Amino acid sequence: ELKDNTIIIVFGASGDLAKKKTLPALFGLFRQGFLPRDTHIVGYARTKMDQAEFEKRATSNIKGADDPETANQIEAFKQRLSYVSGGYEDGESFDKLNAHLQEIESHYQSKECNRIFYLALPPTVFIPVSQHIKEHCYVSKGGVNRIIIEKPFGKDLESARHLLSSVKQYWTEDETFRIDHYLGKEMVKNLLVLRFANVALGACWDKNYISNVQITFKEPFGTEGRGGYFDEFGMIRDVIQNHLLQVLTILTMERPVSFAAEDIRDEKVKVLRSIPPVEKEDCLLGQYVSANGKPGYLDDNTVPPNSVCPTYAATTLWIHNPRWEGVPFILKAGKALNEAKVEVRIQFKDVTQGIFKDIARNELVIRIQPSEAVYLKMNAKTPGLYTRAIPTEMDLTYKRRFTEAKIPEAYESLILDTLRGDHSNFVRHDELDYAWKIFTPILHWIDGKNGQRPKPSPYPYGSRGPKELDGFIKKYGYKRADDAYFWPVTNMA
Ligand code: BG6
Repeated sequence: ELKDNTIIIVFGASGDLAKKKTLPALFGLFRQGFLPRDTHIVGYARTKMDQAEFEKRATSNIKGADDPETANQIEAFKQRLSYVSGGYEDGESFDKLNAHLQEIESHYQSKECNRIFYLALPPTVFIPVSQHIKEHCYVSKGGVNRIIIEKPFGKDLESARHLLSSVKQYWTEDETFRIDHYLGKEMVKNLLVLRFANVALGACWDKNYISNVQITFKEPFGTEGRGGYFDEFGMIRDVIQNHLLQVLTILTMERPVSFAAEDIRDEKVKVLRSIPPVEKEDCLLGQYVSANGKPGYLDDNTVPPNSVCPTYAATTLWIHNPRWEGVPFILKAGKALNEAKVEVRIQFKDVTQGIFKDIARNELVIRIQPSEAVYLKMNAKTPGLYTRAIPTEMDLTYKRRFTEAKIPEAYESLILDTLRGDHSNFVRHDELDYAWKIFTPILHWIDGKNGQRPKPSPYPYGSRGPKELDGFIKKYGYKRADDAYFWPVTNMA
């Protein structure tokens, strides 16, 4: 764990990710006392900015700034900030940055210096920047150097391998922290505890009891403004191949030998290796169209005309191992839908027929956001002097159960892990390789690499998704319980 003499350098400091996530997370850690003593934060980007402007930008996304205590902390945080502008491709700019870092370090009491390099950058400059940092800004004596990078890690298996191996020429696996910010979310971290600290859950966690699993990501807004970027990637690369697949691996891996990073990641890799590439038949694609005064995807003028890029995708994955053989895992994600929600829904099998007929299935739902919750849909007897079953919930809603708890932001938790040198919530090199193997063939098909590009099914902005969705999920055995609320006594034996 780093105690002091640490500089965190944020590349791309004038961009969106830094402004919305990285810098506010650093502030969050600062105010809670989690940053090493005397930490400095140096912003770096091409944009020319003076100190005042950088301070303003760096703190513009901090919530609750009108509270006097927060305002004081923001002022104290500003004292830690400085900014250097320069290019990403030329060595001299990095020499200038290094001189600035050395100037800060010359005031340290001890010789040890730690530098954390956070690349909040577009992928086009990952390689030159990681090279220049290594050649111009790496501290060789005492202390540690760590580099944080974030998706997109390539566009398919081949480009990801190229990117990863290029960065590896300069940075060891131990120094590299590949962020998938879903791994920093409280409920994703909770999966390990739910699964392995509860005998009752652990006992029914397999193909004998589970019928199907859905991992769902829904956003109520379109790509507005980011269309140009998005169009090159599409929904599978944006959310499914990384965020939802990470959730899937933790949900399905075997119990790791310990909480150590390599033990956890070994198990994740093992389960990824048991998943064959997604088949066309297991894939549903959609694209939103204008509705209720909201623009369609193609109305965004940063999107190429007639683009067939999917803004909605559902893909079903199969795991070939003894625990999961035959259980469909439906990963679905969409933009411009009817609500904001990310959840895991595990539907159990039907109860043995006999005394009950068509009774609702048990479902365990883990709501990742908003309003973190874990609830189990279970059947109980309706209270009263008659016997009929009614589906109810055992409900652990975090806001109610943990009234005082503040749930950390994903980026706070991950940056703290980086400072502690803990890789367990970061993506290992081989994990990425296997993740790309699962999705590359279907992505190439969608990209039209071997023929015509498939046309996504249109869905209205603000709807639940393409009209084929219900049929798609049903095909994998999902049973909706809505229409059958009560089971009157006549339905019981
Ligand atoms: C990003 C995607 O990785 O995750 C975005 O590129 C998406 O398109 C975002 O909106 C969702 O993250 P969160 O934390 O808001 O669920």
